[in-house]
Amino acid sequence: MHILVIGGAGYIGSHVVKALLQRKMKVTVFDNLSTGTKLNLFKEADFIEGDILNYNQILDALKQNVDGIVLLAGKKAVGESMENPMKYALNNINGVINVLNAMVEAGVKKAIFSSSASVYGTPLYTPLDEKHPENPMSFYGFTKLETERFLKWYDQLKGVKFVSLRYFNAVGYDEDGDIKGLEENPQNLLPIVMEAVIGKREKLKIFGNDYDTPDGTCIRDYIHVTDLATAHALALEYLDKGGESQILNLGTSLGSSVLEMVHKTEEVVGKKVPFEFAPRRAGDPAIVTAKPDKAFEVLGWKATHSDLKNIIASTWNMYKNL
Ligand code: UD1
Repeated sequence: MHILVIGGAGYIGSHVVKALLQRKMKVTVFDNLSTGTKLNLFKEADFIEGDILNYNQILDALKQNVDGIVLLAGKKAVGESMENPMKYALNNINGVINVLNAMVEAGVKKAIFSSSASVYGTPLYTPLDEKHPENPMSFYGFTKLETERFLKWYDQLKGVKFVSLRYFNAVGYDEDGDIKGLEENPQNLLPIVMEAVIGKREKLKIFGNDYDTPDGTCIRDYIHVTDLATAHALALEYLDKGGESQILNLGTSLGSSVLEMVHKTEEVVGKKVPFEFAPRRAGDPAIVTAKPDKAFEVLGWKATHSDLKNIIASTWNMYKNL
């Protein structure tokens, strides 16, 4: 299969490219390099610099005998989406519509889509299965849910088959060190922990220690990006065998608290993580964990790289020499 990985120079995209190459797929990366970087490109994959907001660019790329796509390009900062919804409507909704329309025009019928646990909003129960009501609390989560609805209609009306993968908390880095790009200005917990360890920031602020959890800090389902990447490859193989469209959670079902992440980092790295407790962050639920059984039933997928030690060691590898 020849796969166009849209957003393939980004953090998750570059790991997806590696997983597809390992499974002997031909890969072309399409990326506007707005947050992605050439450091994340593989010499075995072709590269097109282009933007999903430019219909002709994406159509031309899809016409290069492409069998399927992985669509990762998009904006992903929850806080920013609440301040600047226009940017998210444009990139995460208009951009996806462009890709879907170009797929129909080019006759490409297989799509893997990056979705997010944020479509569920505050959990009514955990671990979350795919039947949990969808009630996004952020505009970002809304754009992901809307896109899934577009995908369902394009399947029904135009036969575009899709697998939408709802990631929980993506963490970790390629364990072979093949991916070199670090995210600029990270917003997520583990990169912030690392920056506190190396002194790039003074302290980690732990948002809330009065939650109804064993140690009072929030619990999340941290899933290694290499595990996420494998799911994309399996999903493409599944669609290639004629599988029906699916929406699947990708997580471990295990949760770790913020303090557990801090203490495990200290153990793996052998250094202190300077931190202080700070007020709760608006919109943070106490516990978010995934029930990933459907991904196992449909794709035979389960997490195999996601123990905390592995997650932290692979992340530390990227930060230790900064
Ligand atoms: C993240 C993503 C969201 C995605 C979701 C999937 C962001 C901002 N959010 O949410 O898009 O849908 O995963 O589950 O990218 N924390 C601190 N101090 C910090 C940073 C974080 O205490 O400086 C805590 C948070 O309160 C939270 C945990 O660490 O409990 C993880 O936070 P974060 O990495 O931002 O991810 P989520 O908010 O869970």
